[in-house]
Amino acid sequence: MKTKLRWTLLALAFAAGSASAAGDPAAGKSLYATCTACHGLAGQGNKALNAPKIAGQEDWYLTRQLQNYKKGIRGTHAGDTYGKQMAPMAMTLADDAAIANVVAYIGTFPDTAPAATVTGDVARGETLYKTCIACHGAKGEGNKALNAPKLTGLSDWYAVTQLKHFKSGVRGSHADDTYGKQMAPMSMTLADDQAIMDVVAYINGLGK
Ligand code: HEC
Ligand code: HEC
Repeated sequence: MKTKLRWTLLALAFAAGSASAAGDPAAGKSLYATCTACHGLAGQGNKALNAPKIAGQEDWYLTRQLQNYKKGIRGTHAGDTYGKQMAPMAMTLADDAAIANVVAYIGTFPDTAPAATVTGDVARGETLYKTCIACHGAKGEGNKALNAPKLTGLSDWYAVTQLKHFKSGVRGSHADDTYGKQMAPMSMTLADDQAIMDVVAYINGLGK
């Protein structure tokens, strides 16, 4: 019993330690001022500006994307019109500590479900989504161990763009894009734009 308690306390101490290493939301608030113009005051996104919702996304996924934009792993492909708008914004974050702080601040936003804008054949989407379950989970909840982000609560129009970009190599084809390269072949299972719309329409229903 005593040993179990000691292990529990040790686990809690470890969790607390890694939480503090994850960044300071107060310090991240001023860094986020740059981001509001496109992603909104609470990270809700802005379709008119092609900027997706970032509220509610896992900290490890946000961190990776910001690092990828900074390193030129994302947002440098000639066809990546929107990624090229985002990449210079990531440059305003000086180092990993700044990234951790802004990500911690984004973590304080409410995760409000965005309005659905994509329609499609949900039944066909369910069949197509079977391929995705292995990594993103049956409920689209994501799987950190497999580096696959949560898909529910994502701006649906943005999910459509990303799937098209993975298919065409605009995203996930950079030599150093380890995780994008895992996703890109999966997008190939979606034969055409209609299949992309159908699977995203199905994902829209998963969060409900
Ligand atoms: C000029 C508008 C603009 C500003 C300012 C901006 N972004 Fe973005 N951001 C975008 C666009 C557009 C995309 C989508 C790129 C794409 O479609 O591939 C994006 C994508 C992202 C993504 C990827 C989300 C995902 O699901 O993959 C993250 C994370 C992000 N932005 C965070 C930030 C942060 C943090 C800041 C402030 C330091 C910021 N952005 C400032 C326009 C902007
Ligand atoms: C082998 C595992 C795997 C499978 C199967 C898989 N994915 Fe992914 N997916 C990933 C990984 C890893 C990423 C993160 C890529 C990155 O970090 O840039 C990702 C990213 C994504 C993104 C981008 C999210 C964002 O915020 O930008 C979408 C959308 C997506 N996947 C949809 C799907 C769909 C739909 C399917 C099924 C057709 C699918 N995935 C199958 C591993 C997988």
